[in-house]
Amino acid sequence: MEQNFAALRKEFPVLQRKTYLNSGSYCALAHEVRAAFNAYMEDRLLVGANWDVWVTKNESVRALVAKLLHASPDEIAVTASVSAGLNALASALRFDGPRNKVVVSDFEFPTNAQIWHAQEPRGARVVHVPRAPDGYIPPEMFEKAIDENTQLVAITHVCFRNGAKLDIPSIVRIARSKGAKVLLDCYQSVGSLDIDVKALDVDFAVGGMLKYLLGTAGIGFLYARDSCVQSLVPTNSGWFAQAEIAAMDITANRPASTARRFEAGTPPVVNCYAAEAGLKLLLRVGTPAIEKRNFALTRRCMERLEEIGWPSITPPQDQRRGATVAVPSRDSARLSAELMQRDIVTSHRDENVRASFHFYNNDDDVESFIAAMKDLRASFGPR
Ligand SMILES: Cc1ncc(COP(=O)(O)O)c(C=O)c1O
Repeated sequence: MEQNFAALRKEFPVLQRKTYLNSGSYCALAHEVRAAFNAYMEDRLLVGANWDVWVTKNESVRALVAKLLHASPDEIAVTASVSAGLNALASALRFDGPRNKVVVSDFEFPTNAQIWHAQEPRGARVVHVPRAPDGYIPPEMFEKAIDENTQLVAITHVCFRNGAKLDIPSIVRIARSKGAKVLLDCYQSVGSLDIDVKALDVDFAVGGMLKYLLGTAGIGFLYARDSCVQSLVPTNSGWFAQAEIAAMDITANRPASTARRFEAGTPPVVNCYAAEAGLKLLLRVGTPAIEKRNFALTRRCMERLEEIGWPSITPPQDQRRGATVAVPSRDSARLSAELMQRDIVTSHRDENVRASFHFYNNDDDVESFIAAMKDLRASFGPR
């Protein structure tokens, strides 16, 4: 079904006032997500501790994330953040044997390196795969780092700094050949690209709802492949991770037989309302259509940047990028602030300004960004 993207723009009121290119930090707020927050308030006023609805919402989010990733709901833990999911997983791994190595890349978001370094007192050895001279990290670089001592390859899908996408199928093949498991941090891709965790053949995946999933902060997910769940017993746990939550048994830890064992305490209830609404809207639009549109928008933006003589550092090939275009500047913080003055919302990381696209953006947004950048090039272009 062909999507009417022009009509969908009307669902996001901020787009009437701003050129919103910041979905890699925080998505635009949709009317129906705002309505979901209001519904929580109404329920709270009218019913108070609405236990059954809380559980239903949490399970609904689990089912929607499963659908999005092409996984089973039993393989999804609903977490408070990516960090919470990673910590629960790390607590279930052992690093006291020969397979104590965790391989990460130089494209990682800090939390997906810091948490593995935090396991060093437990015996973990963390190895970083560096960038090649052209700034990308080709699979060959992973070949050198992954060996028979590697327990886990913990890698980002799309880099938050430069928008580059790693070649996950090739890296998974290398990991498999050495008997290592793979964790995919897909926070910068989920919702903006079409992701099938079974086709990618990863063992674990983490992400959250505040970027391309149209939801809010304070809620995320951990996917754990069915065959991995039973053998992993997290020591980061809690009553919502138990087989029988209502049992209230204080004599033992009896983890759920599903990925719910990676959860902890009371779910982030209000965030479940918003995440459910965001996920439903996103699934209605459909990730294959969204991916196609995002590739077209980012490609157009990169071509136009070339034309004005201010090329981006994001890889030009579709298979090597996500929905973010990173543009180098001699002062990225001030450039982003100047763009904001012109009602163009971006973000900045390192020396780059990031323009992140989603299905609600259009060619006019690209042109507004380009016109402003052309104007600001003399003051903020690369050194
Ligand atoms: C790729 C990536 N991973 C992890 C995180 C952090 O996740 P959380 O704050 O939910 O732990 C972010 C946040 O921006 C991110 O972009």
